[in-house]
Amino acid sequence: MSAIIVVGTQWGDEGKGKATDLLADRVDYVVRYQGGNNAGHTVIVGDVTLKLHLVPSGVMYEHVTPVIADGVVIDPGVLLTELDQLVDQGLDPSKLRISGNAHVIMPYHLELDRLTERHLGRQKLGTTKRGIGPAYADKASRVGLRVQDLYDMKIFRQKLDTVLKERNAVLSRVYNRLPMKAADIETEYAVYAERLAPYIADTGTLLHDALDQGQAVLLEGAQGTLLDLDHGTYPFVTSSNPVAGGALTGAGLGPDRITQVIGITKAYVTRVGAGPFPTELGAEGASAASHDIAERMTEVGGEYGTTTGRRRRVGWFDAVLARYARRVNGLTEQFLTKLDVLSQFDVLRVCRAYRYQDSEFEHFPPHQSIIHRAAPIYEELPGWGTEITEVEHYADLPKPAQAYVDRLEELTQVPVRWVSVGPERRQTLERD
Ligand code: IMP
Repeated sequence: MSAIIVVGTQWGDEGKGKATDLLADRVDYVVRYQGGNNAGHTVIVGDVTLKLHLVPSGVMYEHVTPVIADGVVIDPGVLLTELDQLVDQGLDPSKLRISGNAHVIMPYHLELDRLTERHLGRQKLGTTKRGIGPAYADKASRVGLRVQDLYDMKIFRQKLDTVLKERNAVLSRVYNRLPMKAADIETEYAVYAERLAPYIADTGTLLHDALDQGQAVLLEGAQGTLLDLDHGTYPFVTSSNPVAGGALTGAGLGPDRITQVIGITKAYVTRVGAGPFPTELGAEGASAASHDIAERMTEVGGEYGTTTGRRRRVGWFDAVLARYARRVNGLTEQFLTKLDVLSQFDVLRVCRAYRYQDSEFEHFPPHQSIIHRAAPIYEELPGWGTEITEVEHYADLPKPAQAYVDRLEELTQVPVRWVSVGPERRQTLERD
């Protein structure tokens, strides 16, 4: 029995798709446990590039059963489009299993996500506008519709009528929008229900039994530790729990099942949307040199969102965040991604602590105001001055690149077991 959690240690986009894809070889189930189609995984195998938002990347493997678990919010239209795309690419998604307890994203969630962001103006969070926050808010308010409700249309309509009455009042009276019609939504969702029916399962029991039978389960988080609703940079976070604990509630498993917690860590840091980012480069008012480094990091790293296409904010590696991620997730090892993006720089900076007023913070500051004003304390490491994308063995990496990895490991106190030097599956170096 083994259940492995894969979790992002920064603000998402660490390259979890690649790590999951690599590990999928060794597992029987790949499970999405939270989030929705705000996430995006890019998986490249040979000539095929897949951009997945909801379906776990394990779908690439015939031997893997992909699972969308209880903690996920599902936009059924988006999911069906993704399944159609997989079929077009010659893949067979028929093994996908979806929890009946997962919540459904409704048209008013999308509308309200857009409207509230606009209403917030300069205070906006920069959400992906996919209805994620409003769907989770309804779940917590106990007025959400679940996947299982799609299979009792009488109940579905009753629940919809109740919630829509209130949502329509908000849409029309607060935002001056046309109210939505329950009958239209019912018709649309009845079609989704029919198409999704073969995939619905009791995924909690499925995973529990699989583990009892000695099979291996990979639980893949979306987003990252600092976007966690409870442990991230609130309110600039997503509305679910990407951290390792979220894997347990999201999939319905107990902590005794977990054998490994792998943190996916980018060799530098990125973030999309608003919120504090102590090591950010090229921020408003930054020096020309800082803008130049940011520009090069973004371009070489291809740092544009998979879901929204937005340009990601970029910055130097932040060991304070990494240490926090270790603590919050109980990381047992790390998968370091995108080391090759740093090959272009002569000197690399790594943030070892923050300074705020007269204090130094080695650990993540407990108050939001400090995080917003924290200044990074950097140490400098030499670059390696050569491309590393074709390196096949870790020992063949230039010595300064190995020294960079060693230093990150020292600062974060979590062993780095894999280092990725390019987007393709073969460009992953396993350390002994
Ligand atoms: P939401 O999840 O769409 O509500 O957006 C809330 C915050 O999380 C925003 O800052 C988004 O940019 C961010 N976010 C959501 N999903 C991802 C992701 O997959 N990668 C990076 N940031 C994300």
